[in-house]
Amino acid sequence: MTQDELKKAVGFAALKFVKPDSLVGVGTGSTASYFIDALATIKDQIKGTVSSSEASTQKLKDYGIPVLDCNEVDSLDVYVDGADEINHQLQMIKGGGAALTREKIVSALSKQFVCIVDESKVVDVLGKFPLPVEVIPMARSYVARELFKLGGKPIYRQGVITDNGNVILDVHDLIIAKPMELENRINNIAGVVTVGLFANKGANVALVGTRSGVKEIKPSY
Ligand code: A5P
Repeated sequence: MTQDELKKAVGFAALKFVKPDSLVGVGTGSTASYFIDALATIKDQIKGTVSSSEASTQKLKDYGIPVLDCNEVDSLDVYVDGADEINHQLQMIKGGGAALTREKIVSALSKQFVCIVDESKVVDVLGKFPLPVEVIPMARSYVARELFKLGGKPIYRQGVITDNGNVILDVHDLIIAKPMELENRINNIAGVVTVGLFANKGANVALVGTRSGVKEIKPSY
């Protein structure tokens, strides 16, 4: 199976976590895009969705799937999204597609986070994938210097403006031994909107696409 076929398999496998009449958080990226294809097959059975990006919103609307404003809902039953890396505690690096802030908001609203990934995303220690940080444009250089002090090499993602009008710094060469601590530290730097570490609130379950089928993984502590 190709990587794309593995992504499709987990995208469709996630449907089992979508109960009738539920409100569904929808992620962003190529794997989440397959989940939207799957969701379209049961669109008449759900109450609606909250989307984590303009791109996913457009795809949901093209299918005629109702998209609600985040401010209209108190909570979501389930959030389904991909990740750039996930460890065995189901903590993640996200934001490769620059949607990390809205993804974190949708995750915060959700009772259950189902992470859908192909097996290449599963790691023992987070940090090989450059850690995305969304930054207010005027703070870009200051935040980069602060990230450098933490031991990483921040690189400005040229030409990318997030859905919120901000910029992204990708932090290379981090070995993230304490993801929760690092998430808090980076979020505390003035000018940082969000760091793409989802550690304090990770996924509740991961569906991992492997060559021998989709594996369901719960966090190991
Ligand atoms: C979007 O900003 C990201 O958090 C995505 O969830 C992540 O990059 C995974 O994307 P793919 O499913 O395309 O690999």
